Amino acid sequence: MKLQQHQTKRSQNHISSHLLRGLLQTQGFVIFRASELGYRQEPTPAQRELIELAKSLGADPYAKNCSRYRCLHRGVFIPSKGALIFTPSSVDEVTGEKFNSYLQGEENQEHANLERRFSPMPVKMQRNTALRDLVKRDFRVTPFSDGEDDAYAVTFHVIRHVVAQGEKAASSPDLIHTDDVLLSFVHVLERTNVVGGVNCIARIRHEGKAWNTVPIEDVLAQTTVTEPFDGYAFIDDAVGHYVSPIEVAAGHVEGARTVLIVDFAPLRPARTLELPPLKAA
Ligand SMILES: [Fe+2]
Repeated sequence: MKLQQHQTKRSQNHISSHLLRGLLQTQGFVIFRASELGYRQEPTPAQRELIELAKSLGADPYAKNCSRYRCLHRGVFIPSKGALIFTPSSVDEVTGEKFNSYLQGEENQEHANLERRFSPMPVKMQRNTALRDLVKRDFRVTPFSDGEDDAYAVTFHVIRHVVAQGEKAASSPDLIHTDDVLLSFVHVLERTNVVGGVNCIARIRHEGKAWNTVPIEDVLAQTTVTEPFDGYAFIDDAVGHYVSPIEVAAGHVEGARTVLIVDFAPLRPARTLELPPLKAA
C-alpha cells in the first residue's frame, strides 16, 4: 500500500512537470509552485541548510548603492546518471583568490561587455543535496531530451539583497531585459520583511524599456513569488523579464530576498573516444 502511494505521488509529480514543460514550450515561460515540482510543504533539513548557507555569501563587488551578496558557479549535469559535476574555479595569479568570471553581453547596459568576477559557490552549498535535487526537478521541466550521452552546462547564481529602512534594492538591470542565456529557472529561497520584488514577464519587443511603459496587452504575467522554492522559468529568447525593487515592509528595520537562478544549455553529447586498434609490437 505504501509503495503504491509512493508510486502515485511520483507519477503525479511527473504529470505536473510535464504540464509545466508544455506551458514553458508554448508560452516561453512558466510560473510554478514548489509543490508542482514535487516538493513537500515543509522544507527538508537539506533545503533549510541551503537557505541558511545563502545568508552568508560574500558581498557583490559590483553592487552600487545597495547591499547585494552573491556567488556564481558552473557545472555539468548528466541527466541519465543524475550527476552534477562542478567546474573548478579560476585562481587570481596575484592574490590566489578563487573566482568565476561572468562576461556580460549588451543586454545588461549597466555592465555591458564587462567581465565581472564573482565568488565561487561555497563547497558546502555545492554538496547540498537539496541543490542537486533541485537541478533534477528543474530539468524535468526543460524541453530537452535525456538521452544516455546527453550532458548540459548548468550555471548557478545565488543573489541576496538586504535592505534597511528607507533603502530600495533593484535587481540589475532595473528594466525589462533578457539574460543572454538559453533557458533559466529562478527560485525564491528567502523573502523576509520586504515588499516589492514583483516578477513581470512581457513581450520581448519591450526589452530595454521601463516596466511601467509596457501596454497592458503586452504584459504576459505579473506576480510576486514569495514561498521558498517557488519560482518561474523562461526561454530567454522568447520573453522579456523584470523584477521590481524591494523595500522593507512597514514595521521592520531590515528585510532580505534571496534567489537561486539555474541556467541550462545543452553540451555536445559526450561520445566515447574511438581509438584505433592497437598494433601488434
Ligand atoms: Fe535577468
